[in-house]
Amino acid sequence: MATMLELPKAASFLIEQNYAAYTTEQHAIWAELVSRRMPQLQQHAAAEYLDGFESLCLPYDRLPNLAAVSAKLQKRTGWNTTPVSGFMPAPAFFEMLAARRFPTTTWLRNRESLEYTPEPDILHDVFGHVPMHAHPVFADFLAHYGQVCSRIFDEAILECIGRVFWYTVEFGLIRQGGRVKVYGSGLISSNGECSNVIEGGCEVRPFVLDEVLRTPVKVDEMHRLLFAIESFDQIYEAMHTLEARIQLGSRLDEQIAA
Ligand SMILES: [Fe+2]
Repeated sequence: MATMLELPKAASFLIEQNYAAYTTEQHAIWAELVSRRMPQLQQHAAAEYLDGFESLCLPYDRLPNLAAVSAKLQKRTGWNTTPVSGFMPAPAFFEMLAARRFPTTTWLRNRESLEYTPEPDILHDVFGHVPMHAHPVFADFLAHYGQVCSRIFDEAILECIGRVFWYTVEFGLIRQGGRVKVYGSGLISSNGECSNVIEGGCEVRPFVLDEVLRTPVKVDEMHRLLFAIESFDQIYEAMHTLEARIQLGSRLDEQIAA
């Protein structure tokens, strides 16, 4: 486990995953959720997501052991899937991303809420997010996002940059082979959100940094607008553009108001 010295802000949120405590029923729920999502994802997920899932040997039939996932991931991109106790304040969250440690919940939704949980669970965090961390450019982008945000203390600027996270890491789309594919965890882990995109319920615009920065996040309804990148280099470069603007003292919150 990471120490207080490595992660001073996040240390109090770090826990161990008690893998032996998962019940047969919980493993069965994971297996059912994965088998429900996979047919749609084989068709509509980004190639990099599906490659990551296979290369990390994420299990289909039982809950993932985070130490085993991290051992594989660490070798590929230096990322670690680190168990945490739950919701974390922003400074601790950014500190972990900057250190290539993805804060990962260990609890799993129950059978009564298979389709939706308001708080992220291990399905959202591991099935939804972690495969993308095996992709080198995405992995660098996400760590850089944490590094940039951990140096910002202005709430309005953080909210603005948070939109980049929302429209990529959580609800990102990419054009591949002339079709729109999903890679954001909120789309990967949710049949409803993913179907909304596939069935045309959502306008898909090209990812343009300034437009993303101006588009508020809506958490209580299906998306009506999302953004598709052409390659992961685009979001990697977007974070460098943002970092340069911040260093120049540009007021990103004024761009929102514009
Ligand atoms: Fe998420």
